Amino acid sequence: MLKTVRACFEESGYTVDGVRELLGPVAGAALARDQVVPALRVLREDASALSALTRLLWLQESVPEDGLPSVELEGIGLARREGGRLVPLLHVEPLEWPGETRYAVSDLKARPGDAPPRPDHVVGVGGASYSLARLVVHRAVDSALDLGTGSGVQALLLGDRARRITATDTNPRALDLARLSLGLSGTDAELRLGSLFAPVPERYDLIVSNPPFVISPDGRHPYRESGLPGDDVCRRLVAEAPRHLTEGGWCHLLANWLHVEGEPWDERVADWITGCDGWVVQRDVQDPAEYVELWLRDSVEAGTAAYRARYDAWLAYFERERVTGIGFGWITLREGGGSVRVEELRHAVDQPVGAYVERVLDGIAAADRPFGVLRTAEGVVQEQIGRPGAEDPERIVLRQTSGLRRASGVGTTEAALAGVCDGSVPLDPLLGAIAQLTGADEDAVRAHADAVLPELVADGFFEVAG
Ligand SMILES: C[S@@+](CC[C@H](N)C(=O)[O-])C[C@H]1O[C@@H](n2cnc3c(N)ncnc32)[C@H](O)[C@@H]1O
Repeated sequence: MLKTVRACFEESGYTVDGVRELLGPVAGAALARDQVVPALRVLREDASALSALTRLLWLQESVPEDGLPSVELEGIGLARREGGRLVPLLHVEPLEWPGETRYAVSDLKARPGDAPPRPDHVVGVGGASYSLARLVVHRAVDSALDLGTGSGVQALLLGDRARRITATDTNPRALDLARLSLGLSGTDAELRLGSLFAPVPERYDLIVSNPPFVISPDGRHPYRESGLPGDDVCRRLVAEAPRHLTEGGWCHLLANWLHVEGEPWDERVADWITGCDGWVVQRDVQDPAEYVELWLRDSVEAGTAAYRARYDAWLAYFERERVTGIGFGWITLREGGGSVRVEELRHAVDQPVGAYVERVLDGIAAADRPFGVLRTAEGVVQEQIGRPGAEDPERIVLRQTSGLRRASGVGTTEAALAGVCDGSVPLDPLLGAIAQLTGADEDAVRAHADAVLPELVADGFFEVAG
Protein backbone atom coordinates (compact mmCIF):
# COMPACT_ATOMS: atom_id res chain seq x y z
CA MET A 1 0.00 0.00 0.00
CA LEU A 2 2.82 2.38 0.95
CA LYS A 3 4.44 1.73 -2.43
CA THR A 4 1.25 2.53 -4.32
CA VAL A 5 0.79 5.78 -2.39
CA ARG A 6 4.41 6.80 -2.88
CA ALA A 7 4.18 6.01 -6.60
CA CYS A 8 1.07 8.21 -6.81
CA PHE A 9 2.94 11.06 -5.03
CA GLU A 10 5.84 10.73 -7.46
CA GLU A 11 3.77 10.38 -10.63
CA SER A 12 1.60 13.37 -9.79
CA GLY A 13 4.62 15.53 -8.83
CA TYR A 14 3.67 15.94 -5.15
CA THR A 15 6.93 17.68 -4.21
CA VAL A 16 7.66 21.13 -2.78
CA ASP A 17 8.63 22.39 -6.25
CA GLY A 18 5.60 20.74 -7.84
CA VAL A 19 3.19 22.32 -5.35
CA ARG A 20 4.95 25.68 -5.57
CA GLU A 21 4.63 25.71 -9.36
CA LEU A 22 1.00 24.66 -9.16
CA LEU A 23 0.11 27.42 -6.70
CA GLY A 24 2.16 30.29 -8.12
CA PRO A 25 4.09 32.84 -6.07
CA VAL A 26 1.29 34.52 -4.10
CA ALA A 27 -0.59 31.43 -2.93
CA GLY A 28 2.72 29.59 -2.45
CA ALA A 29 4.09 32.35 -0.22
CA ALA A 30 0.80 32.47 1.72
CA LEU A 31 0.99 28.71 2.30
CA ALA A 32 4.53 29.08 3.60
CA ARG A 33 2.96 31.42 6.19
CA ASP A 34 0.39 28.67 6.89
CA GLN A 35 -2.43 30.57 5.13
CA VAL A 36 -4.50 28.19 3.01
CA VAL A 37 -7.22 30.41 1.50
CA PRO A 38 -5.20 31.70 -1.51
CA ALA A 39 -4.12 28.11 -2.32
CA LEU A 40 -7.69 26.81 -2.10
CA ARG A 41 -8.81 29.55 -4.50
CA VAL A 42 -6.09 28.64 -7.01
CA LEU A 43 -6.91 24.93 -6.86
CA ARG A 44 -10.70 25.26 -6.99
CA GLU A 45 -10.89 24.65 -10.75
CA ASP A 46 -7.88 22.31 -11.05
CA ALA A 47 -8.84 18.65 -11.48
CA SER A 48 -5.30 17.21 -11.56
CA ALA A 49 -4.13 14.50 -9.16
CA LEU A 50 -1.50 16.94 -7.84
CA SER A 51 -4.20 19.44 -6.98
CA ALA A 52 -6.27 16.73 -5.23
CA LEU A 53 -3.28 15.50 -3.21
CA THR A 54 -2.33 19.06 -2.21
CA ARG A 55 -5.86 19.87 -1.11
CA LEU A 56 -6.26 16.59 0.79
CA LEU A 57 -2.89 16.14 2.46
CA TRP A 58 -1.49 19.66 2.80
CA LEU A 59 -4.51 22.00 2.87
CA GLN A 60 -6.55 19.38 4.75
CA GLU A 61 -9.75 19.59 2.65
CA SER A 62 -11.92 16.68 1.56
CA VAL A 63 -11.67 15.81 -2.16
CA PRO A 64 -13.47 13.42 -4.57
CA GLU A 65 -12.02 9.91 -4.57
CA ASP A 66 -11.63 9.75 -8.38
CA GLY A 67 -8.12 9.63 -9.71
CA LEU A 68 -6.50 8.88 -6.32
CA PRO A 69 -5.59 5.48 -4.81
CA SER A 70 -8.33 5.90 -2.23
CA VAL A 71 -8.29 2.35 -0.84
CA GLU A 72 -4.56 2.60 -0.18
CA LEU A 73 -4.76 6.14 1.25
CA GLU A 74 -7.42 4.84 3.66
CA GLY A 75 -5.48 1.62 4.29
CA ILE A 76 -2.41 3.44 5.60
CA GLY A 77 -4.50 5.87 7.62
CA LEU A 78 -3.93 9.10 5.70
CA ALA A 79 -7.61 9.60 4.87
CA ARG A 80 -11.06 8.09 5.34
CA ARG A 81 -13.53 7.37 2.51
CA GLU A 82 -16.96 8.88 2.94
CA GLY A 83 -19.71 9.22 0.31
CA GLY A 84 -17.33 9.14 -2.68
CA ARG A 85 -14.93 11.58 -1.05
CA LEU A 86 -11.67 11.32 0.87
CA VAL A 87 -11.52 13.12 4.20
CA PRO A 88 -8.00 13.93 5.52
CA LEU A 89 -6.90 12.22 8.74
CA LEU A 90 -3.21 13.15 8.68
CA HIS A 91 -1.05 15.89 7.22
CA VAL A 92 1.59 14.80 4.69
CA GLU A 93 4.14 17.37 3.62
CA PRO A 94 6.89 16.84 1.06
CA LEU A 95 10.17 18.08 2.50
CA GLU A 96 12.11 20.95 1.02
CA TRP A 97 15.59 19.46 0.86
CA PRO A 98 18.09 18.83 -1.90
CA GLY A 99 18.06 15.31 -3.28
CA GLU A 100 15.30 12.72 -3.15
CA THR A 101 11.80 13.77 -2.15
CA ARG A 102 10.79 12.70 1.33
CA TYR A 103 7.44 12.97 3.13
CA ALA A 104 6.73 13.85 6.75
CA VAL A 105 3.44 12.59 8.19
CA SER A 106 2.00 14.41 11.20
CA ASP A 107 -1.33 15.14 12.81
CA LEU A 108 -3.58 17.64 11.05
CA LYS A 109 -2.49 21.21 11.68
CA ALA A 110 -4.93 23.04 13.95
CA ARG A 111 -6.76 25.87 12.16
CA PRO A 112 -8.42 28.81 13.98
CA GLY A 113 -11.57 27.61 15.74
CA ASP A 114 -10.42 23.96 15.88
CA ALA A 115 -10.48 22.02 19.14
CA PRO A 116 -7.18 22.04 21.11
CA PRO A 117 -4.69 19.38 19.95
CA ARG A 118 -5.10 15.85 21.36
CA PRO A 119 -2.67 14.95 24.20
CA ASP A 120 -0.59 12.71 21.92
CA HIS A 121 -0.56 15.23 19.05
CA VAL A 122 2.33 14.76 16.62
CA VAL A 123 3.56 18.08 15.38
CA GLY A 124 4.31 18.71 11.71
CA VAL A 125 7.36 20.15 10.02
CA GLY A 126 7.92 23.79 10.86
CA GLY A 127 10.50 26.55 10.63
CA ALA A 128 12.28 25.12 13.68
CA SER A 129 12.61 21.69 12.01
CA TYR A 130 14.38 23.24 9.00
CA SER A 131 16.43 25.52 11.22
CA LEU A 132 17.90 22.48 12.99
CA ALA A 133 18.40 20.57 9.75
CA ARG A 134 20.40 23.48 8.29
CA LEU A 135 22.66 23.58 11.35
CA VAL A 136 23.74 19.94 11.10
CA VAL A 137 27.37 19.39 10.13
CA HIS A 138 27.88 18.27 6.53
CA ARG A 139 29.77 15.04 6.91
CA ALA A 140 28.91 11.43 6.31
CA VAL A 141 28.59 9.43 9.54
CA ASP A 142 28.14 5.83 10.49
CA SER A 143 25.52 6.33 13.21
CA ALA A 144 23.06 9.14 13.95
CA LEU A 145 20.40 9.71 16.60
CA ASP A 146 17.28 11.88 16.21
CA LEU A 147 16.03 12.43 19.76
CA GLY A 148 12.36 13.49 19.91
CA THR A 149 11.66 12.56 16.32
CA GLY A 150 7.94 13.49 16.14
CA SER A 151 6.99 13.11 12.47
CA GLY A 152 10.47 11.69 11.79
CA VAL A 153 11.57 14.77 9.86
CA GLN A 154 15.17 14.94 11.15
CA ALA A 155 15.68 11.21 10.64
CA LEU A 156 14.40 11.61 7.06
CA LEU A 157 16.81 14.47 6.41
CA LEU A 158 19.74 12.49 7.83
CA GLY A 159 18.95 9.69 5.39
CA ASP A 160 21.64 10.63 2.89
CA ARG A 161 24.28 11.34 5.56
CA ALA A 162 24.09 8.51 8.07
CA ARG A 163 24.48 4.78 7.47
CA ARG A 164 22.43 3.85 10.56
CA ILE A 165 19.78 6.08 12.11
CA THR A 166 17.99 5.70 15.44
CA ALA A 167 14.97 7.88 16.19
CA THR A 168 13.31 8.16 19.60
CA ASP A 169 10.23 9.70 21.15
CA THR A 170 8.19 9.39 24.34
CA ASN A 171 4.98 9.42 22.32
CA PRO A 172 4.11 6.03 20.76
CA ARG A 173 1.88 7.80 18.24
CA ALA A 174 4.89 9.87 17.09
CA LEU A 175 6.78 6.65 16.43
CA ASP A 176 3.80 5.30 14.43
CA LEU A 177 3.71 8.43 12.26
CA ALA A 178 7.50 8.53 11.94
CA ARG A 179 7.33 4.91 10.70
CA LEU A 180 4.80 6.00 8.09
CA SER A 181 7.01 8.95 7.06
CA LEU A 182 10.03 6.67 6.71
CA GLY A 183 8.05 4.08 4.74
CA LEU A 184 6.63 6.69 2.33
CA SER A 185 10.11 8.15 1.86
CA GLY A 186 11.99 4.87 1.42
CA THR A 187 14.30 5.70 4.37
CA ASP A 188 15.35 3.29 7.13
CA ALA A 189 15.64 4.09 10.83
CA GLU A 190 15.30 2.16 14.05
CA LEU A 191 12.53 3.61 16.23
CA ARG A 192 12.72 3.46 20.02
CA LEU A 193 10.29 4.59 22.69
CA GLY A 194 11.60 6.46 25.73
CA SER A 195 12.69 9.69 27.35
CA LEU A 196 15.91 11.61 26.61
CA PHE A 197 18.85 9.18 26.45
CA ALA A 198 17.14 6.33 28.35
CA PRO A 199 16.38 4.21 25.25
CA VAL A 200 19.80 4.83 23.65
CA PRO A 201 22.67 3.74 25.91
CA GLU A 202 25.10 3.55 22.98
CA ARG A 203 27.25 6.28 21.42
CA TYR A 204 26.57 8.04 18.10
CA ASP A 205 28.67 9.98 15.59
CA LEU A 206 25.88 12.53 15.27
CA ILE A 207 23.01 13.48 17.58
CA VAL A 208 20.30 15.93 16.54
CA SER A 209 17.33 17.07 18.55
CA ASN A 210 14.56 19.61 18.20
CA PRO A 211 13.40 18.89 21.74
CA PRO A 212 10.19 19.92 23.51
CA PHE A 213 11.91 23.13 24.63
CA VAL A 214 8.88 25.34 25.32
CA ILE A 215 9.01 26.56 28.93
CA SER A 216 5.59 26.56 30.57
CA PRO A 217 4.15 26.14 34.07
CA ASP A 218 2.65 22.69 33.48
CA GLY A 219 3.99 20.88 30.39
CA ARG A 220 0.45 20.58 29.08
CA HIS A 221 1.48 19.90 25.44
CA PRO A 222 4.03 17.06 25.29
CA TYR A 223 4.75 17.67 21.59
CA ARG A 224 6.48 20.91 22.57
CA GLU A 225 6.81 20.91 26.41
CA SER A 226 8.84 18.32 28.31
CA GLY A 227 7.15 18.54 31.72
CA LEU A 228 10.56 19.17 33.31
CA PRO A 229 10.92 22.44 35.22
CA GLY A 230 12.16 25.59 33.45
CA ASP A 231 14.77 24.93 30.76
CA ASP A 232 15.88 21.64 32.35
CA VAL A 233 15.16 19.55 29.26
CA CYS A 234 17.75 21.51 27.27
CA ARG A 235 20.20 21.60 30.18
CA ARG A 236 19.95 17.82 30.59
CA LEU A 237 20.37 17.12 26.89
CA VAL A 238 23.48 19.31 26.77
CA ALA A 239 24.92 17.78 29.94
CA GLU A 240 24.26 14.17 28.91
CA ALA A 241 25.00 14.33 25.16
CA PRO A 242 28.81 14.17 25.40
CA ARG A 243 28.56 10.73 27.05
CA HIS A 244 26.65 9.51 23.99
CA LEU A 245 29.05 10.80 21.34
CA THR A 246 31.81 8.81 19.68
CA GLU A 247 35.26 10.39 19.46
CA GLY A 248 34.95 13.72 17.64
CA GLY A 249 31.15 13.19 17.34
CA TRP A 250 28.71 16.07 16.89
CA CYS A 251 25.49 17.08 18.61
CA HIS A 252 23.13 19.81 17.37
CA LEU A 253 20.15 21.03 19.37
CA LEU A 254 17.58 23.75 19.18
CA ALA A 255 16.96 25.20 22.62
CA ASN A 256 15.21 27.80 24.75
CA TRP A 257 16.89 29.13 27.87
CA LEU A 258 15.75 31.36 30.67
CA HIS A 259 17.14 34.78 31.41
CA VAL A 260 16.94 34.87 35.19
CA GLU A 261 17.28 38.07 37.18
CA GLY A 262 20.80 38.45 38.56
CA GLU A 263 22.29 35.58 36.48
CA PRO A 264 23.97 36.45 33.16
CA TRP A 265 22.24 34.17 30.61
CA ASP A 266 25.45 33.38 28.74
CA GLU A 267 27.20 32.15 31.90
CA ARG A 268 24.16 30.09 32.85
CA VAL A 269 24.10 28.30 29.50
CA ALA A 270 27.89 27.95 29.30
CA ASP A 271 27.72 26.11 32.65
CA TRP A 272 25.59 23.41 31.00
CA ILE A 273 28.52 22.36 28.79
CA THR A 274 31.32 20.21 30.17
CA GLY A 275 33.88 17.91 28.61
CA CYS A 276 33.48 18.97 24.98
CA ASP A 277 33.71 21.92 22.61
CA GLY A 278 30.54 23.97 22.53
CA TRP A 279 29.01 26.78 20.51
CA VAL A 280 25.80 28.42 21.72
CA VAL A 281 24.08 31.03 19.59
CA GLN A 282 21.20 33.14 20.82
CA ARG A 283 19.19 34.03 17.69
CA ASP A 284 16.32 35.78 19.46
CA VAL A 285 15.11 36.85 22.89
CA GLN A 286 11.53 37.50 23.92
CA ASP A 287 10.16 39.11 27.03
CA PRO A 288 7.84 36.90 29.13
CA ALA A 289 4.62 38.36 27.70
CA GLU A 290 5.74 37.97 24.07
CA TYR A 291 6.76 34.40 24.81
CA VAL A 292 3.43 33.46 26.37
CA GLU A 293 1.52 35.02 23.46
CA LEU A 294 3.62 33.11 20.93
CA TRP A 295 2.84 29.72 22.44
CA LEU A 296 -0.75 30.46 23.47
CA ARG A 297 -1.54 31.25 19.84
CA ASP A 298 -1.11 27.55 19.05
CA SER A 299 -3.40 26.21 21.72
CA VAL A 300 -6.05 28.63 23.00
CA GLU A 301 -8.29 31.02 21.08
CA ALA A 302 -7.19 34.61 21.73
CA GLY A 303 -9.52 36.88 23.68
CA THR A 304 -11.45 34.10 25.46
CA ALA A 305 -11.63 33.80 29.26
CA ALA A 306 -9.54 30.62 29.03
CA TYR A 307 -6.87 32.55 27.14
CA ARG A 308 -6.70 35.31 29.73
CA ALA A 309 -6.57 32.85 32.65
CA ARG A 310 -3.79 30.84 31.08
CA TYR A 311 -1.84 33.96 30.09
CA ASP A 312 -2.08 35.17 33.69
CA ALA A 313 -0.97 31.83 35.19
CA TRP A 314 1.99 31.57 32.81
CA LEU A 315 3.17 35.11 33.62
CA ALA A 316 2.79 34.41 37.34
CA TYR A 317 5.03 31.36 36.91
CA PHE A 318 7.72 33.43 35.16
CA GLU A 319 7.45 36.05 37.89
CA ARG A 320 7.96 33.43 40.64
CA GLU A 321 11.02 32.12 38.80
CA ARG A 322 12.40 35.70 38.36
CA VAL A 323 12.43 35.25 34.58
CA THR A 324 13.18 38.42 32.63
CA GLY A 325 13.31 36.89 29.15
CA ILE A 326 13.59 33.69 27.15
CA GLY A 327 16.38 33.08 24.64
CA PHE A 328 15.95 30.99 21.48
CA GLY A 329 18.86 29.46 19.67
CA TRP A 330 21.22 26.76 18.60
CA ILE A 331 23.60 24.60 20.60
CA THR A 332 26.38 22.65 18.91
CA LEU A 333 28.67 20.27 20.79
CA ARG A 334 31.71 18.42 19.52
CA GLU A 335 33.17 15.59 21.56
CA GLY A 336 36.69 16.29 22.85
CA GLY A 337 38.27 19.62 23.70
CA GLY A 338 36.69 22.01 26.13
CA SER A 339 36.42 25.35 24.34
CA VAL A 340 33.02 26.95 24.78
CA ARG A 341 31.66 30.07 23.16
CA VAL A 342 28.26 31.57 23.95
CA GLU A 343 27.17 34.50 21.84
CA GLU A 344 24.30 36.38 20.34
CA LEU A 345 23.91 36.50 16.55
CA ARG A 346 20.70 38.21 15.53
CA HIS A 347 21.58 39.02 11.91
CA ALA A 348 21.02 36.81 8.84
CA VAL A 349 23.84 34.33 8.26
CA ASP A 350 24.60 32.18 5.23
CA GLN A 351 22.61 28.96 5.17
CA PRO A 352 23.13 26.11 5.61
CA VAL A 353 25.36 26.74 8.63
CA GLY A 354 26.16 23.00 8.59
CA ALA A 355 28.32 23.56 5.50
CA TYR A 356 30.83 25.57 7.57
CA VAL A 357 30.03 24.76 11.23
CA GLU A 358 33.17 22.62 11.44
CA ARG A 359 35.28 25.71 10.65
CA VAL A 360 33.39 27.70 13.29
CA LEU A 361 34.16 25.12 16.01
CA ASP A 362 37.77 24.85 14.80
CA GLY A 363 38.15 28.63 15.21
CA ILE A 364 36.66 28.58 18.71
CA ALA A 365 39.01 25.77 19.76
CA ALA A 366 42.06 27.35 18.07
CA ALA A 367 41.58 30.63 19.93
CA ASP A 368 42.20 28.81 23.23
CA ARG A 369 45.62 27.50 22.16
CA PRO A 370 48.86 29.36 21.43
CA PHE A 371 49.26 30.15 17.73
CA GLY A 372 52.33 31.11 15.73
CA VAL A 373 51.20 31.46 12.11
CA LEU A 374 47.91 32.98 11.00
CA ARG A 375 46.06 33.22 7.71
CA THR A 376 43.35 35.78 6.98
CA ALA A 377 40.20 33.77 6.36
CA GLU A 378 38.78 33.66 2.85
CA GLY A 379 36.09 36.24 2.14
CA VAL A 380 37.28 38.76 4.76
CA VAL A 381 37.27 42.32 3.42
CA GLN A 382 38.32 45.60 4.98
CA GLU A 383 36.11 48.69 5.06
CA GLN A 384 37.40 52.14 5.97
CA ILE A 385 34.89 54.62 7.28
CA GLY A 386 35.60 58.31 7.56
CA ARG A 387 34.83 61.75 6.23
CA PRO A 388 35.19 62.01 2.43
CA GLY A 389 38.70 63.22 1.58
CA ALA A 390 40.07 62.59 5.09
CA GLU A 391 43.60 61.18 5.10
CA ASP A 392 43.01 58.62 7.86
CA PRO A 393 39.85 56.58 8.40
CA GLU A 394 37.87 57.14 11.60
CA ARG A 395 37.06 53.44 11.76
CA ILE A 396 38.37 50.28 10.16
CA VAL A 397 36.06 47.31 9.93
CA LEU A 398 36.89 43.73 8.98
CA ARG A 399 33.85 42.07 7.45
CA GLN A 400 33.11 38.48 6.46
CA THR A 401 31.36 38.36 3.09
CA SER A 402 30.10 34.82 3.68
CA GLY A 403 29.42 32.33 6.48
CA LEU A 404 28.43 34.00 9.74
CA ARG A 405 28.89 37.45 8.12
CA ARG A 406 30.41 39.01 11.19
CA ALA A 407 31.83 42.53 11.22
CA SER A 408 34.42 43.77 13.70
CA GLY A 409 35.87 47.22 14.28
CA VAL A 410 39.66 46.81 14.45
CA GLY A 411 42.80 48.85 15.04
CA THR A 412 45.60 49.48 12.56
CA THR A 413 47.62 46.47 13.80
CA GLU A 414 44.86 43.93 13.07
CA ALA A 415 44.01 45.62 9.78
CA ALA A 416 47.67 45.46 8.74
CA LEU A 417 47.83 41.82 9.82
CA ALA A 418 44.72 41.00 7.79
CA GLY A 419 46.55 42.41 4.77
CA VAL A 420 49.67 40.29 5.18
CA CYS A 421 48.72 37.08 6.99
CA ASP A 422 48.79 34.41 4.29
CA GLY A 423 49.88 31.49 6.45
CA SER A 424 53.53 31.64 5.36
CA VAL A 425 55.21 33.97 7.89
CA PRO A 426 55.03 33.59 11.69
CA LEU A 427 53.13 36.24 13.60
CA ASP A 428 56.05 37.56 15.62
CA PRO A 429 58.17 38.97 12.77
CA LEU A 430 55.02 40.34 11.15
CA LEU A 431 54.19 42.27 14.33
CA GLY A 432 57.77 43.59 14.45
CA ALA A 433 57.48 44.82 10.87
CA ILE A 434 54.09 46.44 11.55
CA ALA A 435 55.55 48.26 14.59
CA GLN A 436 58.40 49.58 12.46
CA LEU A 437 56.15 50.71 9.64
CA THR A 438 53.68 52.49 11.92
CA GLY A 439 56.35 53.88 14.27
CA ALA A 440 54.65 52.22 17.24
CA ASP A 441 56.38 50.62 20.20
CA GLU A 442 57.03 46.93 19.40
CA ASP A 443 56.07 45.67 22.86
CA ALA A 444 52.86 47.64 22.79
CA VAL A 445 51.98 46.21 19.34
CA ARG A 446 52.64 42.66 20.59
CA ALA A 447 50.62 43.21 23.77
CA HIS A 448 47.73 44.60 21.72
CA ALA A 449 47.88 41.63 19.34
CA ASP A 450 47.89 39.18 22.28
CA ALA A 451 44.80 40.87 23.64
CA VAL A 452 42.70 41.06 20.48
CA LEU A 453 43.76 38.15 18.25
CA PRO A 454 42.15 35.28 20.20
CA GLU A 455 38.73 36.90 19.72
CA LEU A 456 39.37 37.50 16.02
CA VAL A 457 40.47 33.85 15.63
CA ALA A 458 37.39 32.63 17.53
CA ASP A 459 35.27 34.88 15.30
CA GLY A 460 36.84 33.34 12.20
CA PHE A 461 38.56 36.44 10.78
CA PHE A 462 41.91 34.65 11.06
CA GLU A 463 42.65 30.94 10.85
CA VAL A 464 45.57 29.25 12.55
CA ALA A 465 48.01 27.94 9.96
CA GLY A 466 50.66 26.68 12.37
C1 LIG B 1 9.22 19.93 18.90
S1 LIG B 1 8.89 18.25 18.56
C2 LIG B 1 10.13 17.92 17.34
C3 LIG B 1 9.66 17.07 16.21
C4 LIG B 1 10.68 16.90 15.08
N1 LIG B 1 11.88 16.25 15.54
C5 LIG B 1 11.01 18.18 14.37
O1 LIG B 1 12.21 18.52 14.26
O2 LIG B 1 10.10 18.88 13.89
C6 LIG B 1 9.51 17.48 20.03
C7 LIG B 1 9.30 15.97 20.10
O3 LIG B 1 9.92 15.47 21.29
C8 LIG B 1 9.08 14.49 21.88
N2 LIG B 1 9.38 14.43 23.33
C9 LIG B 1 8.76 15.03 24.36
N3 LIG B 1 9.37 14.74 25.53
C10 LIG B 1 10.42 13.92 25.22
C11 LIG B 1 11.42 13.28 25.98
N4 LIG B 1 11.48 13.43 27.31
N5 LIG B 1 12.31 12.49 25.33
C12 LIG B 1 12.28 12.34 23.98
N6 LIG B 1 11.34 12.95 23.20
C13 LIG B 1 10.43 13.71 23.80
C14 LIG B 1 7.67 14.96 21.59
O4 LIG B 1 6.76 13.89 21.66
C15 LIG B 1 7.85 15.56 20.17
O5 LIG B 1 7.58 14.58 19.21
